[in-house]
Amino acid sequence: MRTAEIARDVPRIDLPLAKIAADIDALFERVLVIPSDPSARLLNAMRHAAIGGGKRLRPLLACASADIFGVSRHLSVRAGLAVECIHVHSLIHDDLPCMDDDDLRRGKPTVHVAFDEATAVLAGDSLLALAFEILSDPETHPLAEVRVELVRDLAHAAGAYGMAGGQMLDLMPMEQPADMEAIARLQRLKTGALIGWSVECGAILGRAGTEERTSLRGYAQNLGLAFQITDDLLDVSGDPSSVGKRLRKDEAQGKETFVTLLGEERARHQAQILVDQAIEHLHAFGQAADLLAAIARFAISRDR
Ligand code: IPE
Ligand code: IPE
Ligand code: MG
Ligand code: MG
Ligand code: MG
Repeated sequence: MRTAEIARDVPRIDLPLAKIAADIDALFERVLVIPSDPSARLLNAMRHAAIGGGKRLRPLLACASADIFGVSRHLSVRAGLAVECIHVHSLIHDDLPCMDDDDLRRGKPTVHVAFDEATAVLAGDSLLALAFEILSDPETHPLAEVRVELVRDLAHAAGAYGMAGGQMLDLMPMEQPADMEAIARLQRLKTGALIGWSVECGAILGRAGTEERTSLRGYAQNLGLAFQITDDLLDVSGDPSSVGKRLRKDEAQGKETFVTLLGEERARHQAQILVDQAIEHLHAFGQAADLLAAIARFAISRDR
Protein backbone atom coordinates (compact mmCIF):
# COMPACT_ATOMS: atom_id res chain seq x y z
CA MET A 1 0.00 0.00 0.00
CA ARG A 2 2.71 2.41 1.05
CA THR A 3 4.87 1.52 -1.99
CA ALA A 4 1.87 1.92 -4.29
CA GLU A 5 1.11 5.31 -2.75
CA ILE A 6 4.67 6.49 -3.27
CA ALA A 7 4.76 5.14 -6.83
CA ARG A 8 1.58 7.10 -7.59
CA ASP A 9 2.79 10.29 -5.93
CA VAL A 10 6.30 10.66 -7.26
CA PRO A 11 5.49 11.40 -10.91
CA ARG A 12 2.63 13.69 -9.86
CA ILE A 13 4.93 15.92 -7.87
CA ASP A 14 8.14 15.61 -9.91
CA LEU A 15 6.64 17.17 -13.02
CA PRO A 16 4.96 20.10 -11.26
CA LEU A 17 8.18 20.72 -9.28
CA ALA A 18 10.26 20.80 -12.48
CA LYS A 19 7.75 23.06 -14.22
CA ILE A 20 7.55 25.59 -11.40
CA ALA A 21 11.35 25.61 -11.05
CA ALA A 22 11.70 26.47 -14.76
CA ASP A 23 9.01 29.17 -14.56
CA ILE A 24 10.50 30.80 -11.45
CA ASP A 25 14.03 30.77 -12.90
CA ALA A 26 12.74 32.35 -16.13
CA LEU A 27 10.96 35.13 -14.21
CA PHE A 28 13.98 35.79 -11.98
CA GLU A 29 16.11 36.06 -15.15
CA ARG A 30 13.64 38.65 -16.42
CA VAL A 31 13.48 40.81 -13.29
CA LEU A 32 17.08 40.54 -12.04
CA VAL A 33 18.81 42.46 -14.81
CA ILE A 34 22.47 43.32 -14.21
CA PRO A 35 23.15 47.06 -14.59
CA SER A 36 26.35 48.34 -16.18
CA ASP A 37 27.68 50.14 -13.11
CA PRO A 38 29.26 48.97 -9.83
CA SER A 39 25.83 48.12 -8.35
CA ALA A 40 26.03 45.08 -10.65
CA ARG A 41 27.57 43.38 -7.58
CA LEU A 42 24.20 43.59 -5.78
CA LEU A 43 22.30 42.06 -8.70
CA ASN A 44 24.89 39.31 -9.04
CA ALA A 45 24.46 38.49 -5.35
CA MET A 46 20.65 38.41 -5.69
CA ARG A 47 20.95 36.13 -8.72
CA HIS A 48 23.42 33.87 -6.89
CA ALA A 49 20.85 33.30 -4.14
CA ALA A 50 17.66 33.28 -6.20
CA ILE A 51 18.36 31.49 -9.47
CA GLY A 52 18.89 27.77 -10.00
CA GLY A 53 18.21 26.28 -6.61
CA GLY A 54 15.71 25.39 -3.95
CA LYS A 55 12.63 23.24 -4.18
CA ARG A 56 10.36 26.21 -5.10
CA LEU A 57 7.80 24.68 -2.77
CA ARG A 58 6.11 28.00 -1.92
CA PRO A 59 5.56 28.99 -5.58
CA LEU A 60 4.25 25.46 -6.23
CA LEU A 61 1.79 25.84 -3.35
CA ALA A 62 0.65 29.20 -4.76
CA CYS A 63 -0.03 27.69 -8.19
CA ALA A 64 -1.66 24.52 -6.83
CA SER A 65 -3.98 26.55 -4.62
CA ALA A 66 -4.82 29.04 -7.40
CA ASP A 67 -5.55 26.15 -9.79
CA ILE A 68 -8.47 25.09 -7.58
CA PHE A 69 -10.15 28.41 -8.42
CA GLY A 70 -9.25 28.43 -12.12
CA VAL A 71 -6.75 31.30 -11.82
CA SER A 72 -4.49 31.73 -14.85
CA ARG A 73 -0.98 30.40 -14.29
CA HIS A 74 0.52 33.70 -15.41
CA LEU A 75 -0.94 35.35 -12.30
CA SER A 76 -0.24 32.57 -9.81
CA VAL A 77 3.39 32.18 -10.89
CA ARG A 78 3.95 35.88 -10.24
CA ALA A 79 2.47 35.52 -6.75
CA GLY A 80 4.74 32.49 -6.29
CA LEU A 81 7.71 34.55 -7.43
CA ALA A 82 6.88 37.20 -4.82
CA VAL A 83 6.83 34.71 -1.93
CA GLU A 84 10.02 33.06 -3.23
CA CYS A 85 11.68 36.53 -3.11
CA ILE A 86 10.75 36.83 0.58
CA HIS A 87 11.86 33.26 1.24
CA VAL A 88 15.27 33.81 -0.39
CA HIS A 89 15.59 37.09 1.53
CA SER A 90 14.97 35.13 4.74
CA LEU A 91 17.54 32.49 3.81
CA ILE A 92 20.27 35.03 2.98
CA HIS A 93 19.76 36.76 6.32
CA ASP A 94 19.32 33.46 8.24
CA ASP A 95 22.76 32.37 7.01
CA LEU A 96 24.58 35.56 8.10
CA PRO A 97 27.28 35.26 10.80
CA CYS A 98 25.03 37.21 13.21
CA MET A 99 22.32 34.54 12.81
CA ASP A 100 23.06 30.90 11.93
CA ASP A 101 26.51 31.60 10.46
CA ASP A 102 26.25 29.13 7.59
CA ASP A 103 28.57 28.83 4.61
CA LEU A 104 26.53 26.49 2.39
CA ARG A 105 23.04 26.97 0.97
CA ARG A 106 21.36 25.12 -1.89
CA GLY A 107 24.69 23.38 -2.55
CA LYS A 108 26.54 26.68 -3.07
CA PRO A 109 28.47 29.08 -0.83
CA THR A 110 26.12 31.42 1.05
CA VAL A 111 25.89 35.00 -0.22
CA HIS A 112 28.08 36.55 2.49
CA VAL A 113 30.77 33.96 1.72
CA ALA A 114 30.57 34.28 -2.08
CA PHE A 115 30.37 38.10 -1.81
CA ASP A 116 30.58 39.80 1.60
CA GLU A 117 28.31 40.56 4.56
CA ALA A 118 27.26 44.05 3.48
CA THR A 119 26.33 42.77 0.02
CA ALA A 120 24.36 39.90 1.60
CA VAL A 121 22.36 42.32 3.78
CA LEU A 122 21.57 44.48 0.74
CA ALA A 123 20.72 41.49 -1.47
CA GLY A 124 18.28 40.26 1.20
CA ASP A 125 16.73 43.73 1.58
CA SER A 126 16.39 44.12 -2.18
CA LEU A 127 14.61 40.78 -2.58
CA LEU A 128 12.20 41.78 0.20
CA ALA A 129 11.41 45.01 -1.66
CA LEU A 130 11.17 43.22 -5.01
CA ALA A 131 8.40 40.96 -3.69
CA PHE A 132 6.11 43.95 -3.16
CA GLU A 133 7.05 45.54 -6.48
CA ILE A 134 5.98 42.30 -8.20
CA LEU A 135 2.70 42.00 -6.30
CA SER A 136 1.68 45.64 -6.80
CA ASP A 137 2.22 45.45 -10.57
CA PRO A 138 -1.07 45.17 -12.56
CA GLU A 139 0.49 42.20 -14.37
CA THR A 140 -0.07 40.23 -11.12
CA HIS A 141 -3.80 41.01 -11.04
CA PRO A 142 -5.92 43.58 -12.87
CA LEU A 143 -7.89 44.56 -9.73
CA ALA A 144 -6.15 46.96 -7.33
CA GLU A 145 -8.12 45.60 -4.34
CA VAL A 146 -6.78 42.10 -5.00
CA ARG A 147 -3.22 43.41 -5.28
CA VAL A 148 -3.59 45.36 -2.02
CA GLU A 149 -4.82 42.24 -0.21
CA LEU A 150 -1.89 40.23 -1.53
CA VAL A 151 0.58 42.94 -0.46
CA ARG A 152 -0.94 43.47 2.99
CA ASP A 153 -1.13 39.79 3.86
CA LEU A 154 2.38 39.04 2.61
CA ALA A 155 3.79 42.02 4.53
CA HIS A 156 2.13 40.63 7.66
CA ALA A 157 3.47 37.12 7.00
CA ALA A 158 7.04 38.39 6.42
CA GLY A 159 7.35 40.80 9.33
CA ALA A 160 7.34 40.91 13.13
CA TYR A 161 4.04 38.98 13.40
CA GLY A 162 5.24 36.36 10.93
CA MET A 163 8.60 35.09 9.67
CA ALA A 164 10.84 37.78 11.20
CA GLY A 165 9.07 37.43 14.56
CA GLY A 166 9.65 33.67 14.42
CA GLN A 167 13.32 34.21 13.61
CA MET A 168 13.55 36.45 16.68
CA LEU A 169 12.04 33.74 18.90
CA ASP A 170 14.42 31.21 17.35
CA LEU A 171 17.42 33.30 18.42
CA MET A 172 16.25 33.70 22.03
CA PRO A 173 16.85 31.07 24.69
CA MET A 174 13.65 29.19 25.38
CA GLU A 175 12.17 28.88 28.84
CA GLN A 176 13.07 25.48 30.27
CA PRO A 177 11.70 22.94 30.08
CA ALA A 178 10.64 23.79 26.51
CA ASP A 179 7.17 22.58 25.64
CA MET A 180 5.37 21.63 22.43
CA GLU A 181 3.23 24.76 22.43
CA ALA A 182 6.24 27.12 22.62
CA ILE A 183 8.02 25.31 19.80
CA ALA A 184 4.87 25.14 17.68
CA ARG A 185 4.29 28.89 18.17
CA LEU A 186 7.85 29.66 17.04
CA GLN A 187 7.54 27.42 14.00
CA ARG A 188 4.09 28.72 13.04
CA LEU A 189 5.71 32.14 12.69
CA LYS A 190 9.17 31.24 11.37
CA THR A 191 8.06 28.84 8.63
CA GLY A 192 4.28 28.64 8.82
CA ALA A 193 3.51 32.25 7.99
CA LEU A 194 5.08 32.22 4.50
CA ILE A 195 3.72 28.76 3.75
CA GLY A 196 0.31 30.03 4.88
CA TRP A 197 0.48 32.99 2.51
CA SER A 198 1.61 30.75 -0.35
CA VAL A 199 -1.60 28.76 0.00
CA GLU A 200 -3.79 31.77 0.80
CA CYS A 201 -2.68 33.78 -2.25
CA GLY A 202 -4.39 31.27 -4.52
CA ALA A 203 -7.66 31.95 -2.68
CA ILE A 204 -7.09 35.71 -2.87
CA LEU A 205 -6.35 35.61 -6.61
CA GLY A 206 -9.35 33.32 -7.13
CA ARG A 207 -11.65 35.40 -4.88
CA ALA A 208 -12.57 32.32 -2.88
CA GLY A 209 -15.31 32.32 -0.23
CA THR A 210 -14.85 32.21 3.54
CA GLU A 211 -15.41 28.47 3.91
CA GLU A 212 -12.89 27.62 1.20
CA ARG A 213 -10.35 29.92 2.81
CA THR A 214 -10.88 28.36 6.23
CA SER A 215 -10.21 24.91 4.78
CA LEU A 216 -7.06 26.09 3.03
CA ARG A 217 -5.84 27.75 6.22
CA GLY A 218 -6.30 24.51 8.14
CA TYR A 219 -4.34 22.68 5.45
CA ALA A 220 -1.52 25.26 5.49
CA GLN A 221 -1.19 25.34 9.28
CA ASN A 222 -0.72 21.60 9.52
CA LEU A 223 1.56 21.54 6.49
CA GLY A 224 3.77 24.35 7.84
CA LEU A 225 4.45 22.46 11.07
CA ALA A 226 5.06 19.17 9.27
CA PHE A 227 7.42 20.91 6.86
CA GLN A 228 9.51 22.44 9.66
CA ILE A 229 9.63 19.16 11.60
CA THR A 230 11.07 17.59 8.45
CA ASP A 231 13.62 20.42 8.14
CA ASP A 232 14.66 19.70 11.73
CA LEU A 233 14.80 15.93 11.04
CA LEU A 234 16.96 16.52 7.95
CA ASP A 235 19.28 18.63 10.11
CA VAL A 236 19.75 15.65 12.42
CA SER A 237 19.87 12.75 9.97
CA GLY A 238 19.80 14.04 6.38
CA ASP A 239 22.34 13.28 3.67
CA PRO A 240 24.54 16.38 3.25
CA SER A 241 24.93 15.87 -0.50
CA SER A 242 21.17 16.02 -1.14
CA VAL A 243 20.22 18.60 1.51
CA GLY A 244 22.72 21.16 0.16
CA LYS A 245 23.29 22.88 3.52
CA ARG A 246 25.39 22.16 6.60
CA LEU A 247 23.75 19.68 8.95
CA ARG A 248 23.69 19.22 12.73
CA LYS A 249 23.55 22.98 13.17
CA ASP A 250 20.50 22.97 15.44
CA GLU A 251 22.22 20.79 18.03
CA ALA A 252 25.45 22.82 17.80
CA GLN A 253 23.48 26.00 18.45
CA GLY A 254 21.36 24.50 21.22
CA LYS A 255 18.08 24.99 19.30
CA GLU A 256 14.92 23.49 20.74
CA THR A 257 12.92 21.70 18.03
CA PHE A 258 10.24 19.02 17.88
CA VAL A 259 13.11 16.59 17.33
CA THR A 260 14.95 17.56 20.53
CA LEU A 261 11.65 17.43 22.42
CA LEU A 262 10.15 14.22 20.99
CA GLY A 263 13.13 12.35 19.56
CA GLU A 264 13.40 11.40 15.89
CA GLU A 265 10.85 8.61 15.77
CA ARG A 266 8.04 10.45 17.50
CA ALA A 267 8.81 13.63 15.53
CA ARG A 268 8.48 11.65 12.28
CA HIS A 269 5.19 10.21 13.49
CA GLN A 270 3.95 13.67 14.48
CA ALA A 271 4.81 15.01 10.99
CA GLN A 272 2.79 12.16 9.44
CA ILE A 273 -0.20 12.93 11.67
CA LEU A 274 0.00 16.61 10.70
CA VAL A 275 0.07 15.75 7.00
CA ASP A 276 -2.94 13.46 7.37
CA GLN A 277 -4.76 16.32 9.10
CA ALA A 278 -3.66 18.78 6.39
CA ILE A 279 -5.11 16.51 3.69
CA GLU A 280 -8.39 16.11 5.59
CA HIS A 281 -8.93 19.86 5.25
CA LEU A 282 -8.90 19.45 1.45
CA HIS A 283 -11.84 17.07 1.37
CA ALA A 284 -14.39 19.58 0.09
CA PHE A 285 -12.28 20.41 -2.98
CA GLY A 286 -12.28 16.82 -4.30
CA GLN A 287 -9.78 16.03 -7.04
CA ALA A 288 -9.08 19.71 -7.64
CA ALA A 289 -6.87 19.59 -4.54
CA ASP A 290 -4.92 16.43 -5.50
CA LEU A 291 -1.74 18.42 -6.12
CA LEU A 292 -1.98 20.14 -2.72
CA ALA A 293 -2.36 16.71 -1.12
CA ALA A 294 0.66 15.38 -3.04
CA ILE A 295 2.72 18.41 -1.97
CA ALA A 296 1.86 17.69 1.67
CA ARG A 297 3.08 14.10 1.31
CA PHE A 298 6.24 15.31 -0.42
CA ALA A 299 6.86 17.83 2.39
CA ILE A 300 7.61 14.99 4.82
CA SER A 301 9.05 12.36 2.47
CA ARG A 302 11.61 14.70 0.89
CA ASP A 303 15.36 14.23 1.26
CA ARG A 304 16.25 17.90 0.60
C1 IPE B 1 14.38 26.09 4.31
O1 IPE B 1 13.30 26.14 3.43
C2 IPE B 1 14.17 27.03 5.45
C3 IPE B 1 12.94 26.79 6.20
C4 IPE B 1 12.00 27.66 6.28
C5 IPE B 1 12.78 25.53 6.93
P1 IPE B 1 13.23 25.17 2.17
O2 IPE B 1 13.49 23.77 2.59
O3 IPE B 1 11.96 25.43 1.42
O4 IPE B 1 14.48 25.67 1.31
P2 IPE B 1 14.70 25.69 -0.27
O5 IPE B 1 13.88 26.82 -0.81
O6 IPE B 1 14.27 24.37 -0.83
O7 IPE B 1 16.18 25.94 -0.43
C1 IPE C 1 15.07 29.38 9.10
O1 IPE C 1 15.04 28.17 9.77
C2 IPE C 1 13.78 29.67 8.52
C3 IPE C 1 13.79 30.99 7.89
C4 IPE C 1 12.90 31.86 8.14
C5 IPE C 1 14.84 31.28 6.91
P1 IPE C 1 16.38 27.32 9.76
O2 IPE C 1 17.52 28.15 10.27
O3 IPE C 1 16.11 26.02 10.41
O4 IPE C 1 16.56 27.10 8.20
P2 IPE C 1 17.79 26.33 7.54
O5 IPE C 1 17.81 24.95 8.17
O6 IPE C 1 19.01 27.13 7.81
O7 IPE C 1 17.41 26.28 6.08
MG1 MG D 1 17.77 29.77 11.52
MG1 MG E 1 19.50 28.31 9.35
MG1 MG F 1 16.87 24.12 9.73
